[in-house]
Amino acid sequence: MAAASSVLHQVPIALGDRSYSIAIGAGLIGDPASWSAAPAAAHGVIVSNTTVAPLYARQLQAAIAPRHQQLHLVVLPDGEVHKTWATLNLIFDALLGHGCDRKTVIYALGGGVVGDMAGFAAACYMRGVPFVQVPTTLLAQVDSSVGGKTGINHPLGKNMIGAFYQPRLVVCDLDVLRTLPPREFSAGLAEVIKYGPIADTSFLDWIESHIEALMRRDTDALAHAVRRSCEIKAAVVGEDERESGLRAVLNFGHTFGHAIEAGLGYGAWLHGEAVGCGMVMAMELSRRLGLLDRAWVQRVTSLLRRAGLPTVGPALGADRYLQLMRVDKKAEAGEIRFVLIERPGLAVVRSAPDALVREVIADCCRPA
Ligand code: NAD
Ligand code: GLY
Repeated sequence: MAAASSVLHQVPIALGDRSYSIAIGAGLIGDPASWSAAPAAAHGVIVSNTTVAPLYARQLQAAIAPRHQQLHLVVLPDGEVHKTWATLNLIFDALLGHGCDRKTVIYALGGGVVGDMAGFAAACYMRGVPFVQVPTTLLAQVDSSVGGKTGINHPLGKNMIGAFYQPRLVVCDLDVLRTLPPREFSAGLAEVIKYGPIADTSFLDWIESHIEALMRRDTDALAHAVRRSCEIKAAVVGEDERESGLRAVLNFGHTFGHAIEAGLGYGAWLHGEAVGCGMVMAMELSRRLGLLDRAWVQRVTSLLRRAGLPTVGPALGADRYLQLMRVDKKAEAGEIRFVLIERPGLAVVRSAPDALVREVIADCCRPA
């Protein structure tokens, strides 16, 4: 018998004929009703990894079995270091090996790495098959499963190969967050906190007053955090799906963060950890440009610490940071573009003098 389930919130993503809904609740994965908005098709393919598949693939298989004549499971190696062409090919090998047709539905069961790769595979296979996001990390529930960015890493830059390709449905089951390791959970909180400075200071107030409940993984607190994060992301993506402008604000903390990830080697710091620390550096840069006051930088830094996140960057050297940040997708003609906080709750994308960036790196980074 399926466990009792409850949908606590539904967040719509309004993108014309690519619109879809995010269901947020408890016990959703194992409930066949959760999947009624997904297309039915002869083949269903669950893409997961060696950590998540043993935990949740059986529940999902049982719940979606009535929707497909044949169900297949592709289990990828776990980790950011495997977000590569070679791993992507394992998905194509399975799709072709099982004779999957162009109506095949791909279910991405896992964190952001699985979601980005399964989504990219769905975008490419037979020039596009439907896919469903089943995010199992907090980071994936509040950010990566929503909005249609899919892709893989290249040794010279993170997420450099990919496509915009929207899922048909996102199902955020809060129960699965119970098995998430503490470090991964904190990394997800970085992306939750991100939405405060860029879009909603009252959400930041709420996070500050509920950080202990969030750290305890209280279901009501998580439901609100996931819902509000998805609402903010949905509003931004609804206005600028392909990042011709506004959507770049969602990359707050990512310019410095991607340099940390690439500079240390993917996987040394978690993506959310690097983004959290990158937010401190971007706020410090905003302060040096006269946009923010010190108290505000300290306020967000302290919240990141309470969320269990590092707030001091690794000392890669200013030259290395600058070199890595020039590979960022926001860079234009070699000029680095930062997401800065113009005032609390409002982000802006702009360049900054290298000398100021070097000061920030010197102040915010220490040798390990
Ligand atoms: P991840 O996918 O590597 O998952 C983190 C770890 O947790 C993995 O070991 C995973 O196997 C494990 N895990 C997942 N769910 C679990 C569960 N319920 N219980 C126990 N273990 C579980 O990392 P992530 O933080 O979810 O995602 C990071 C990735 O997302 C990066 O590659 C980043 O570039 C990408 N990302 C994409 C977007 C986007 O818009 N597409 C946005 C943000 C981040
Ligand atoms: N995570 C940034 C974006 O989706 O645009």
